[in-house]
Amino acid sequence: MTVLGGTALLSSGVCCSPAAHAQANQATAPATLRPPFRELVTLPTFMEHVLSPAADIVWRASGTVADASGEHDLTPQTNAQWETVVSGSATLAEATNSLMIPQRARDIQWFALATALADAANVAYRAAEDHDPKAIAAAGARIDAACTGCHKYYGVE
Ligand code: HEC
Repeated sequence: MTVLGGTALLSSGVCCSPAAHAQANQATAPATLRPPFRELVTLPTFMEHVLSPAADIVWRASGTVADASGEHDLTPQTNAQWETVVSGSATLAEATNSLMIPQRARDIQWFALATALADAANVAYRAAEDHDPKAIAAAGARIDAACTGCHKYYGVE
């Protein structure tokens, strides 16, 4: 397959055009770029101060809370309240990339478990952008399952 493709390129003369060079460079760039990832905080700190606060914002966007004056619906009512949920879910979604840096990954399963959280957070982000109370509640449950799934796998209490 590769040989045939190469032959086809050669015979059509596309191989040496500037466009072909640009394409070839683009194709090789990701492999040669080595992002200088650093683990700036420990994993427990990352969990407690990066993932948890962002997830809490999503979890606090559905259900009810009771106080002295009775039960209150937590569903965001104003644009500003929804914007807070957009921030929390977007932060959580992007934080999953930090969760996946090589320094943090314990084994190959780590990436699948982190991706489950990324997908759940992305669903929450879209629900927040759509101001969709049902979807944000469902996404919150899915996020919870993704956290628990990883903790169970690695025996985290
Ligand atoms: C890819 C795996 C993975 C995912 C996903 C994950 N965690 Fe964790 N979490 C861990 C591991 C591993 C530890 C244990 C860290 C240690 O003690 O070194 C941990 C520990 C914690 C701790 C305890 C931290 C401490 O102070 O000891 C909290 C809180 C926590 N996670 C919250 C969350 C929340 C909230 C989510 C989801 C939004 C989440 N985690 C998703 C792997 C994960």
